[in-house]
Formats: sequence, structure tokens, C-alpha cells
Amino acid sequence: MTTTQRKILVTSALPYANGAIHLGHLLEHIQTDIWVRFQRLRGNECYHICADDAHGTPIMLKAQQLGLKPEAMIEQVRAQHMADFSGFQIGFDNYYSTHSDENREYSQHIYRMLRDNGYIQSRTISQLYDPEKEMFLPDRFVKGTCPNCGSDDQYGDNCDSCGATYSPIELKNPRSVVSGATPVMRDSEHYFFDLPAFEQMLKAWIDSGALQSGVANKLHEWFEQGLQQWDISRDAPYFGFEIPDAPGKYFYVWLDAPIGYMGSFKNYCDSHNVDFDAFWNKDSTAEVYHFIGKDIVYFHGLFWPAMLDGAGYRKPTNLFVHGYVTVNGEKMSKSKGTFIQASTYLKHLNPSYLRYYYAAKLNNRIDDLDLNLEDFAQRVNSDLIGKVINIASRTAGFIHKRFDGKLSSDVIAPELLASFVENQHSIAELFEQREFGKAIREIMALADKANQFIAEQAPWQLVKEEATLEQAHQVCSLSLELFRILVTYLKPVLPDLAAQTEELLQTELTWDNLSNAIFGQSISKFKPLLQRVEMEHIQAMIESSKEDLAKMQAPAPAQKTPLDEDPIAETIDYDDFAKVDLRVARIIKAEHVPEANKLLKLQLDLGGETRQVFAGIKSAYKPEDLEGRLTVMVANLAPRKMRFGLSEGMIAAAGPGGKDIWLLSPDEGAEPGMRIK
Ligand code: MSP
Ligand code: ZN
Repeated sequence: MTTTQRKILVTSALPYANGAIHLGHLLEHIQTDIWVRFQRLRGNECYHICADDAHGTPIMLKAQQLGLKPEAMIEQVRAQHMADFSGFQIGFDNYYSTHSDENREYSQHIYRMLRDNGYIQSRTISQLYDPEKEMFLPDRFVKGTCPNCGSDDQYGDNCDSCGATYSPIELKNPRSVVSGATPVMRDSEHYFFDLPAFEQMLKAWIDSGALQSGVANKLHEWFEQGLQQWDISRDAPYFGFEIPDAPGKYFYVWLDAPIGYMGSFKNYCDSHNVDFDAFWNKDSTAEVYHFIGKDIVYFHGLFWPAMLDGAGYRKPTNLFVHGYVTVNGEKMSKSKGTFIQASTYLKHLNPSYLRYYYAAKLNNRIDDLDLNLEDFAQRVNSDLIGKVINIASRTAGFIHKRFDGKLSSDVIAPELLASFVENQHSIAELFEQREFGKAIREIMALADKANQFIAEQAPWQLVKEEATLEQAHQVCSLSLELFRILVTYLKPVLPDLAAQTEELLQTELTWDNLSNAIFGQSISKFKPLLQRVEMEHIQAMIESSKEDLAKMQAPAPAQKTPLDEDPIAETIDYDDFAKVDLRVARIIKAEHVPEANKLLKLQLDLGGETRQVFAGIKSAYKPEDLEGRLTVMVANLAPRKMRFGLSEGMIAAAGPGGKDIWLLSPDEGAEPGMRIK
């Protein structure tokens, strides 16, 4: 790469820890992931950081309903969220929680800086209070009759029926959603952040920056309405961080949520030897981008930069704001089964389809994105299967059947090849600008050219005659070279297809390799790549979506299985099996965990990547006997936080227990990282 390496920190908004990840969240995370993978493909130093947003009244109350401690509930939800995201190949560098020591430290530090710099004031306000539950009520937890139109059962902040907005004090016949009691007014001292003091700074930031025009316009509208003091405190009981020197007062969840970006990054930096300050100091030259939805621009465009500035940190380089996902032209609907959870989708469909469809429809504006399910099937089948995969499936087989698995060294149509390589500049620019839809269109136009070439040459005819055999060899070889270039362009969008293609073509797909053709090289035997989307699978997903929502009451309390009963499902289907990523791993370090009776702590080498895994094999193995051995691991198991640290996978062992546990070991000659199938 000739350009200098950029240092980039990228975040996706932190999902709340009281609900499941759904296709709306996934638009954001897929968009972010594509951009991050593109940056890495280009050789930039780019980190993707996220976390669960774990604080606030709704989370506290939900945990109470479930009979769980909030700490226990948010850990369960976080594990589920991580599994969902990893199912869609979102490659976070760190997925943490806002309920962490790092975040507490930064939240308190930023608060103290703001206070010492004169940006925090306190005053007494009067609010609705639930005398039975003994807590102040957020607007959404009060219901009553609309003061404007008289409709019953309206929330404390606005009326669904006539659209009026008001304060909960104005509501007629108010009642607490939590206990049903009639709320009373009660005084309390609150802390306010002086947002108006930052007006000039914010205006300059907005005008100088590269903010999307829709975002800049929205922010200017808010300036016209006048900036307000922002209430950053809440009274106990509250699940969050206590405010320093103010017992019984907590930070409002939206204060510590964006600071959670820093908390998660700090947690990453500390264990990966990355310089946190180089990204966040006032004079940092690193780039910081927040991918967010249009509903949270207020927090990221006003409060967050003002807090950072007031506390002596740098501001984000830019906000990348996207619109909302609709399904079949409407808001996602629970009753229609179009409120689709990530886990429901994954039971029925391949994640690559959604990654592709979102990419094909994304631009860099704040437009909503419609997931039309018929268009989805049609688009994936005609583009991915019909155009891209087709190139390899029509040509790769011949290389092994007729040409000893080796590509020809002669290039039959050099100008066609050159046009594929040349497109890299415009495609890179489109990815950089988050114009993914346009990038996909260029890539598909190239795929059309490749298919046209194959159709004209008809290698399946050419192989039939001895006289044209060499030409067939050249046609298939060039087609696979074109396929290599196309899949390199698609690698940020389709990491799975890229990995399969790397295996097929025995080469690493990188941007730098675009002009390093693979003519004359050997390739692997062709295995089917991606299957077509079937409408009946989509239908089945909609049906199970309705069922899954019925049991959505978030995570059930941890299931207990009697120890002597193996919790083995009777059968699993092929799709379940195909999801398990079994890999060869080498145990590079094994240690006792003094506090645990059964566990050993293992460091596993997965061929370039190191994982920490806790395995219950202490009774059967001495740590020193394990070091250097090969074993089999489940590489895509969601990481689990244990008392002793994070466990990032599981190793395979068999036996009745005690001394009789045998680690599964592949034969010597297997290499760490190899996939087992
Ligand atoms: N916890 C806050 C964010 C704190 S960031 C410091 C929050 N959480 S959320 O779970 O409600 O939303 C997380 C992200 O998902 C937001 O960027 C939001 O815009 C996005 N989406 C939620 N539903 C969505 C759609 N239906 N479509 C697209 N994005 C959506 O807000
Ligand atoms: Zn009304």
C-alpha cells in the first residue's frame, strides 16, 4: 500500500441489555462491520468496539420481573447478544458492557472534569413519584388520560392518539405503570449539564466537519429551538453508577452510555497493548467514527461532543447515521412476524444473504431501508448465486477433472482482466464513502462481464474436442482469476465466501494482491459455495418469528440441569451442525486455576489467533503434559465470562469423567486453524 496507514476507531451504538438483537440492530452492525473490514483489507489500523448498554430504569425493572439481579440479567443478555452478532460474522475487537470498572472510572472522571470546569449545576425539581414502589417515575412509566384529546391509556410524554406532547404532570388520572398506584409530586435535587455553554463550539464543529447534510440540518434545527440544560442525575433506586460525592444520586444512563465506547476501548487497549490516549487525547490525529441510527443523533451530535470537549478530550471525527429498517414497506411488526430477531433469522437463513442485501441497498444518507422479502430472495439468488458463484461453479470443476488441478499460465483475454483490476479505485472510493449499494452495482456489472465471457466461450463445449482443450483450460483459468478479483471486492461484505474462496484458490484475498494473478497455480477441488434462498425458508422464519416473540420475555433464569443427566438434544438438523466451526488448535500453554476444582486454563493457537479457554479436564491431565498437543475446538462459541476470566470457545474431550477424560487429538500433520468438516 502506498498511502500511509490510518488509525481508526469505529463504534456501533450500544444495544440495550433488556431486549433481543433484531434485524434493525443488524443493519447498523453489518454496515459498521463492512466498513471496518474494508479498512482492514486496505491495511489500515482499525478497531471495531461495542458493548451492551446495561443501565437505567427499564433494565432494573426487567431484572426484578425476572427475579434476577440486574448484574446477572445483563450478563445473560450480553452472552446472547454476542452469540447473535457472531452468527452474522460481526467482527468486534471488543464487545463489553457499560457496567464495567473502566466505564465507571471514565464516567466519574469526565463528570469531575465537567464539574471542576464549571459545567455542572444542581437545582431542585419536582417529579412524579410512585409512593408504593418508592421510586421516581420516568415519563414512560406513567400512563393516564391525554390532557388534549381525552384518550385513555396514554404515556406520560406524548399521546399516540392525537400526537400531543406534554409533561407527565399534565396527564389526567395518572397511574404508575410499575405498581398501579397514583403518583404524587415530590421534590428532589438534580444535577444538570450546561449544554448551552457549548453552543459556539458545537456550531463550529458541525460547520467544519464532514457531517451528513441531513444530520447537520437536524442539529441546526435544535439550535434554533434553543439548547437546554441537560438533567444527568437520577435518584435511587437506579441501576447505574453513583455520582461522586452525591450519595443516592446516579448518573442518568445516557451519560455513561457513550462513555461506554471509551470504557470498552480502554478494556481492549489494556489487554492488547494499544495506546488509548493516542485515540482520545485532545490533540489526537486518529480518526473516531460512531455508526448510529437516526433516533439517537441528539445524544451523539450535541451532548457527547460537548461532554468530551468540556472534559478535555477530542471530539468524534464524524457520525455515520443510518435510517430505520422496514420490512415489506412497513415498520417491523410483531403481529405480522416481521419483527425478526437475529437468532430467529439464523435458524432459517444464511447470514451472508442479509449482509449482501443490506450492502446492496445501503448508501451514506439517513434514508430508511426496506427489507422486501421477495426482493431479498430474488436479489440474492440472481446476484450472488446467479452471477458470482456461477462463475466458479461453471469453471472450477474442469480444472480438476481435465487439467490436473492446475490453472493455465496463458491469459486468454488480458484486456478483460485489466478492466477488472482497474475498477479497484472506484470500488475502494465507494466503500470508503459508505456507498455500498453503488460499490455492489459496480461489482455486479463486472460479474456480468465475466458471465458473458464464459457464455460466449462455452468451456463445457470446448472441453469436448482435443483441439480446443487448451482454450478451455485458458477460459476456465481466466474465469477463476476474475472470480478471485470479484470475491476480493466482496470480502468486506461476505467474509464467509471469501474464506471459502481462499481455500478453493489457495491464495489470500487482499487488496494488495488484486494485481497478483494466480495463473499457473494449483487450486483445491471445487466444493459447493452458497445455496439459493428458498421462499419457503423465509416463510418458515416469519412463522417462527411469531412464536419466538411470544417467548421473548428476555432470558429465562439460568436453566439448571441435574449433573447426571446429559442435556443432549435428540437430533439436530444439518443447518445446526453446519454452524459449528470445528478447528484444529494447538495448546500453547496450560495452567491450573487455583480457585476451580475441575478447570484448567488453556491458551490455544488457532493458526495466528490465540484463544483462552477454560476446560474441565483437570482430573485427567497435568498442565505440563498438555502443552504442545493438538486438539479440536469449537471456534465460534460465544465467549463466556467466567469467574476467572473470559472463555473463548470449547475444546472437545470424551469420557465418563475423573481420570477417564480423553482429549480429542487430530493426527500430527494437522495444522492449527484447519477447519474440520
Ligand atoms: N442504548 C442506546 C444507544 C446508546 S449508544 C451510546 C440505544 N439502544 S437500542 O438498542 O435502542 O438501539 C441501538 C441502535 O440500533 C441504535 O443506533 C438504533 O438506531 C438502532 N436501531 C434500533 N432499531 C432499528 C431499526 N429498526 N432500524 C435500524 N436501526 C435501528 O439506542
Ligand atoms: Zn391525545
